Amino acid sequence: MRFAKKDILDIESLEPHEISMILDTAQGMKEISERPVKKVPTLRGKTIVLFFQEPSTRTKLSFDTAAKRLSADSLSLSKSSSSIVKGETLIDTAKNLEAMKPDIIVLRHPSSGAPHLIAKRVNASVINAGDGIHAHPSQALLDMMSVRERKGKIEGLKVSIIGDIAHSRVARSDITGFLKMGAAVSICAPGTMIPKGIERSGCTVSPTMETCIDGADVIMMLRIQKERQGSILFPTEREYATLFGLNKARLKLANKEVIVMHPGPMNRGVEISSEVADADNSIILEQVTNGVALRMALFYLLAGGGRHADAH
Ligand code: CP
Repeated sequence: MRFAKKDILDIESLEPHEISMILDTAQGMKEISERPVKKVPTLRGKTIVLFFQEPSTRTKLSFDTAAKRLSADSLSLSKSSSSIVKGETLIDTAKNLEAMKPDIIVLRHPSSGAPHLIAKRVNASVINAGDGIHAHPSQALLDMMSVRERKGKIEGLKVSIIGDIAHSRVARSDITGFLKMGAAVSICAPGTMIPKGIERSGCTVSPTMETCIDGADVIMMLRIQKERQGSILFPTEREYATLFGLNKARLKLANKEVIVMHPGPMNRGVEISSEVADADNSIILEQVTNGVALRMALFYLLAGGGRHADAH
């Protein structure tokens, strides 16, 4: 089956069958990273530009690793090393990148909607690697892949997402994705960190962390995004940890087979205790491993590989 999308900009624009196709393709890609020689020629001759205007460890390195494992040429540009600092606009920058004939542009940007803006102006495929508080689709896809791999399904699970929902692009994309794939999503945060009207998406807003976690199959903890908060939204980190931190005692309220997730970076001792982060049921590092395979799948599908099911 052919993958029909030009860009990956958000989860809203993906149909459930497209999400399943991406997850299936990623699962197939995973084995390549286990080989002694972790490289296949599938995207030889393709050019991928990684343009990150915000800091990143996992997303940038996993997109770069994914490109290299598929033999594509990957080129990196950061805000500080680009002519954006000399006043060039994002659209002019994108048009100049386009003039060099890349096949895919991966963009992380502090402004919501920036990847959508450039996707309309360039022929290259655009992947949103996180835009403001709006969306982080590749993170949500790797999260869904990780849950499906561990639980064998997504439909019917209770997924609890706890933390700074208001400023989290991961939360928005995960809520949309897990609901689309048939999970029940429960969220919890201080009132100042719950977006107005979020329940209209179909998720449940839990009044306490205990009710949110009760019977959960999956718990996803989120970092407080201080860099996106205009004012102080909670009294102290200690109080936040007491009311909204995941510790061993609270974890007992979840299902026995619960898995614990975090998109990273973690603030240990604030939203999650070290003993929970490092426990056997934590799949935080599996998420990172799956991130490479998932991003290989996105490159493969967008660069035309979806037309050749046997290409890898
Ligand atoms: N999960 C995530 O986006 O991490 P980075 O900011 O390190 O890329």
